[in-house]
Amino acid sequence: MEIRTPRLTLRSARPDDLKAMHAVLSDPRATRWWSTPPHDSLEQTATWLDSMIANGPDQPDFVIERDGVVIGKAGFWKLPEVGYILHPDHWGQGFAGEAVAASIDHVFGTRDVDDLTADVDPENTASIRLLERLGFVKTGFAERTWEVGGEWKDSLYYGLSRADWSARQRT
Ligand SMILES: CC(C)(COP(=O)(O)OP(=O)(O)OC[C@H]1O[C@@H](n2cnc3c(N)ncnc32)[C@H](O)[C@@H]1OP(=O)(O)O)[C@@H](O)C(=O)NCCC(=O)NCCS
Repeated sequence: MEIRTPRLTLRSARPDDLKAMHAVLSDPRATRWWSTPPHDSLEQTATWLDSMIANGPDQPDFVIERDGVVIGKAGFWKLPEVGYILHPDHWGQGFAGEAVAASIDHVFGTRDVDDLTADVDPENTASIRLLERLGFVKTGFAERTWEVGGEWKDSLYYGLSRADWSARQRT
């Protein structure tokens, strides 16, 4: 499965994505609000990548390539919840927005799902801005939802309906 956007290719994960994804998932800047602490071994990333691959080529969950280099992932490890992470070298250029929008288009175009969700740390400003720019609206808040590296984190919940997404595409 492969999707092309103006600057990126989104495709199913492969075993040889291990090093590039380890560079992302072992970077404490990238995992600051992630559901796990930075990976400290290649084996840990291999387990993570194996489960992404085991989801199968039809799962709308993608590694993101920029000029042939894997810079992160975006998509739905488990529908309907969106997830994305990029290596910090590639932040601030709209790549996440481009990749997440393409994966949303793909899901609404191919799946019988009407409501997408996101679970974001209230301190994760970049991720919140990204979701809101894509049209996600806040649906809730819960305290102490994730224990990561011995620290409790809260969750803001966001949602995006198929109707809202199509309305935005028309404007
Ligand atoms: C969230 C993340 C994917 C954004 O990637 P990106 O390619 O830089 O995102 P974009 O450039 O498409 O857009 C990000 C938005 O946040 C803003 N932003 C970026 N860094 C920011 C920061 N440190 N503080 C506040 N806003 C920030 C950008 O200006 C942009 O908003 P705008 O369109 O209104 O200008 C990236 O920061 C990341 O990988 N973070 C770590 C993983 C993570 O937290 N994932 C989400 C878990 S819910």
